[in-house]
Amino acid sequence: MDDFGAELAAMDPRGRLIRARGMGGHALKRMLRRAADNEGVVLVAEDEGDVIGFASGEVYRRIRDERFEVIDYVNGEVTELYVAPAARRRRIATTLLGALDDHFRERGCGAVRIEVFVPNASARSFYASLGYEERDLAVFRILS
Ligand SMILES: CC(C)(COP(=O)(O)OP(=O)(O)OC[C@H]1O[C@@H](n2cnc3c(N)ncnc32)[C@H](O)[C@@H]1OP(=O)(O)O)[C@@H](O)C(=O)NCCC(=O)NCCS
Repeated sequence: MDDFGAELAAMDPRGRLIRARGMGGHALKRMLRRAADNEGVVLVAEDEGDVIGFASGEVYRRIRDERFEVIDYVNGEVTELYVAPAARRRRIATTLLGALDDHFRERGCGAVRIEVFVPNASARSFYASLGYEERDLAVFRILS
């Protein structure tokens, strides 16, 4: 988790993402709690006992307040995905997302959603390679 956080912070052209001491443990607890609360699962990829990647997915259903604006969806949401640099380009993330897809299908999901930091070009290429289309975009401006 610490390595993942540090990598994202290093991508931020504005320097606003930080990874303070203790972030990894905090993020790990949050990931497990959120998966438990939202029909989710956390998957770990191992190579001879070493953890070389992980992924977390949760299930979200339309809430009553959204009923006038959006179809009656059940979506899988991938909330975390990380593969250690030395293990990349070996289809580990592809395999992890495939296993999450199975989890989502078993719970009736019709689509999968993933939030991506716009400067994270390699993750965007990875998702494009799996057929994900870019859909939501947040814009941002520093106030002078
Ligand atoms: C993005 C990430 C999860 C990909 O993991 P991976 O195990 O290396 O991915 P795969 O081996 O399954 O890649 C499958 C395909 O995706 C594309 N792809 C993967 N990484 C890519 C990159 N850096 N640049 C361009 N395309 C890439 C390729 O088409 C690749 O197939 P190929 O190797 O035959 O060309 C990994 O780079 C990572 O952990 N990055 C840091 C954390 C991160 O950004 N997580 C996502 C947050 S939203």
